[in-house]
Amino acid sequence: MEKYIIHGGHPLKGEVVISGAKNAIAAILPATVLADGPCILENVPNISDVHIFTEILKDMGADIQFINKSTLKIDTSGIKVPEVPYEQAKKMRASYYFLGALLGKFNCARVALPGGCDFGVRPIDLHLKGFQSLGAEYTLEYGMINVKTEQLRGNEVCFDGVSVGATINVMLAAVKAKGTTVIENAAKEPHIVDLANFLNSMGANIMGAGTDMIRIKGVDILHGTEYAVIPDQIEAGTYMVAAAATKGDVLVKNVIPKHLESITSKLIKMGVEVTEYDDSVRVKYVGKLERINVKTRPHPGFPTDMQPQMAVLLCLAEGTSVLTEDVWDSRFRYLDELRRMGADVSSVDGHVAIIEGIKSFTGAPVKAVDLRAGAAVVIAGLCAQGTTEVENIYHIERGYENIEEKLRGLGADIKKVVIPDKVMQTAI
Ligand code: EPZ
Repeated sequence: MEKYIIHGGHPLKGEVVISGAKNAIAAILPATVLADGPCILENVPNISDVHIFTEILKDMGADIQFINKSTLKIDTSGIKVPEVPYEQAKKMRASYYFLGALLGKFNCARVALPGGCDFGVRPIDLHLKGFQSLGAEYTLEYGMINVKTEQLRGNEVCFDGVSVGATINVMLAAVKAKGTTVIENAAKEPHIVDLANFLNSMGANIMGAGTDMIRIKGVDILHGTEYAVIPDQIEAGTYMVAAAATKGDVLVKNVIPKHLESITSKLIKMGVEVTEYDDSVRVKYVGKLERINVKTRPHPGFPTDMQPQMAVLLCLAEGTSVLTEDVWDSRFRYLDELRRMGADVSSVDGHVAIIEGIKSFTGAPVKAVDLRAGAAVVIAGLCAQGTTEVENIYHIERGYENIEEKLRGLGADIKKVVIPDKVMQTAI
């Protein structure tokens, strides 16, 4: 088993370069199934979610070569069986994007129903209703979702609730449908726009991505393309919060400042100095952190994937802050880990946390309970007095490329250690 050992108290100083966006590549890799020729993808992050996706694609028959550490060439013309078995699909929820991509390519798809997840219920009813609107039928048997159709036909798809995944899945199914699809109440995240730009570079006809109405005119052919993935909004936000929490001064490079606006405005309200440049932002701690209230909302609101990290910063503000999780049912499991480090937080229900400011965290052995919760306890460890040990770091490495190297480059005292399993057994 691996864990991070963090000796806190070192302000982060210097520069960090942000990698490609996990939630964009998670949609773009399945989308390559729709191409009739090879695709070259640049700025691909070296994270375990990408490795899982490439393994799934190879198992289905795709040919994938890494041209360098962040550029890959992928030819999916060898895929003949539109199926993702449970053994593969269970490794990652986003494997459900293969439903839309395989349906769009083959008029049928069989993908194992995604398993449980780190926080709350994660249904896919909106995805399935979207497929039905396009003329596909689905069945669920032996844990596999089967969707199929004689012919996908463009239609109006109006979502009851905003869903990133459902918006992406319907886009993937609609790009080669007969006729025009209009998605209403569409998600507007940066990775939705990135997927639309990727598909359009392949010859798709998608307009309005980034607004709540996306129009997709079906085309017959989607050719190969070369495309660079956008920088990761959430990785960037994580380093911005870490800079503020450790009383540091960090230039976060390779970002799109517009994607960070909701995070920047909250940091400024807390008294942090944030300076925007063309493709970077500088975050500088200049004194006492002010308490504020934060509510997560679909883009362009404050991102739910920044909620745990923001909780850590609010713990260090003077006074009482209210943090409301309005996207997921229960995304506060990590509060127990922060309490072990001295946080004074109470969760009124699954949606609201009341956070009382403390002078400082104290180091402790903690766990990463999911990807963003793991980032939160790392940030708490970086600014804690004493030593913090973080277990279950595989969660963190799903979405943060080389996080310990990047943090060490900013002056953090963090290292990854491997604990032989037998030692862990005796310890237990
Ligand atoms: C994506 O998940 C992201 N994952 C999540 O990021 C992110 O938290 C979420 O969008 C919201 O921004 C990827 O992009 C791989 P949703 P997704 O569908 O698509 C409900 C991370 O840390 N809903 O927008 O699954 C759902 O229960 C991960 O990078 C339905 O009710 O999220 C939730 O309450 C964690 N029915 C809300 O909508 C459905 O069919 C938003 O979910 C689908 C969703």
